[in-house]
Amino acid sequence: MFKEKLAFVTGASSGIGRSLALQLKQDGFHLALFARRLTQLENLKDELASINDLKVGVYQCDVAKKESVREAFQKAFADLGAPYLLIANAGVGGSTSVRNFDTDIMATILQTNVMGAIYCISEVLPSMLEQKQGHIVGISSLAAYRSFPYTHAYSASKSALSAHLQGLALELKPHGIKVSTICPGFIKTPMTAKNKFAMPFIMEADQAALKIMNAIKKERKVYNFPWQTYLLVKATGFLPASLVTKKAKG
Ligand SMILES: NC(=O)c1ccc[n+]([C@@H]2O[C@H](COP(=O)([O-])OP(=O)(O)OC[C@H]3O[C@@H](n4cnc5c(N)ncnc54)[C@H](OP(=O)(O)O)[C@@H]3O)[C@@H](O)[C@H]2O)c1
Repeated sequence: MFKEKLAFVTGASSGIGRSLALQLKQDGFHLALFARRLTQLENLKDELASINDLKVGVYQCDVAKKESVREAFQKAFADLGAPYLLIANAGVGGSTSVRNFDTDIMATILQTNVMGAIYCISEVLPSMLEQKQGHIVGISSLAAYRSFPYTHAYSASKSALSAHLQGLALELKPHGIKVSTICPGFIKTPMTAKNKFAMPFIMEADQAALKIMNAIKKERKVYNFPWQTYLLVKATGFLPASLVTKKAKG
C-alpha cells in the first residue's frame, strides 16, 4: 500500500543519511533504511525508537548491485508499503590520480553513485507512477558543477547523477512526481574525515540534514548549499587552470 508518510533512505548507516533518518523520524515519517553495514543500521534503529513509535525497517543492501537493491526494496515494500519519498543518498568518494589511474576505483565510484541511485529509483517508480504522486530526492554534490585534480571520477559521477535527475524531473512532472537534486558542499562525515586539504565552509551533518529537509519540504528542483561554497565553485570557472591546480594540491 502507498504511504504518504513513508520514506526510503539509502546510505543511512552514517553521515548525511543517518542525520536525515533522525530528522525524518522527528518529522513524522515511517522509515526504511538501507546500507551495507547492518549493525550500524540496527544501532540507528534503536536510537530512532526513542523519538516516537513510527515504524522503522532496516535492510542490508549494496546499491551498486541491481539484485541486492531489488531484494532489499521488495522486503521493505512487503514490510512497510510503497514510499512517497525516496532519498537516494548512498555514495562513495575517493580520489583518483593520473599516476595511479585506478580504473577499478573509478568504476566503483561511478557504479555506486550513478547506477546505485538509478537502481533505487527504478524500484519505487512503478508505485509512484500508479499513484500519480511521490518525491525522488538525489544527493548529488557541488562537485557536479566543476571537476578538480584527483576528483575527476567523483565529479563525473555527480554530474551524471545531476543530469539524470534533472531529466527525470521534466519527464515526471506531468505524472505528479517531484524530483529534487541536492548539491551539498563539504559536510563533516566519515567521507570527508580522510581529506587532508582545506574544506571551506564545512558544515555538520545534522545542520546539512536540516537544510536538505527544508529543501525537500519546499520541493526545490535543485538545491545548492552552502551558498558560499557554491559561489566559490562557480568562481573557479573563471580562474586560470594553473591556479586551480595549485590550490587543489594544497
Ligand atoms: N560529505 C560531503 O562533504 C558530501 C558533499 C556532497 C555530497 N555528498 C554525498 O552525500 C552522500 C552521503 O555521503 P556522506 O558524506 O554522508 O558519507 P558517508 O558517511 O561515508 O556515508 C555514505 C553512506 O553511503 C552508504 N553506501 C556507500 N556505498 C554503498 C553501497 N554500495 N551500497 C549501499 N550503501 C552504500 C554507506 O553505507 P555502508 O558503507 O554501510 O554501505 C553510508 O551509509 C553521498 O552520496 C556523497 O557523495 C557528501
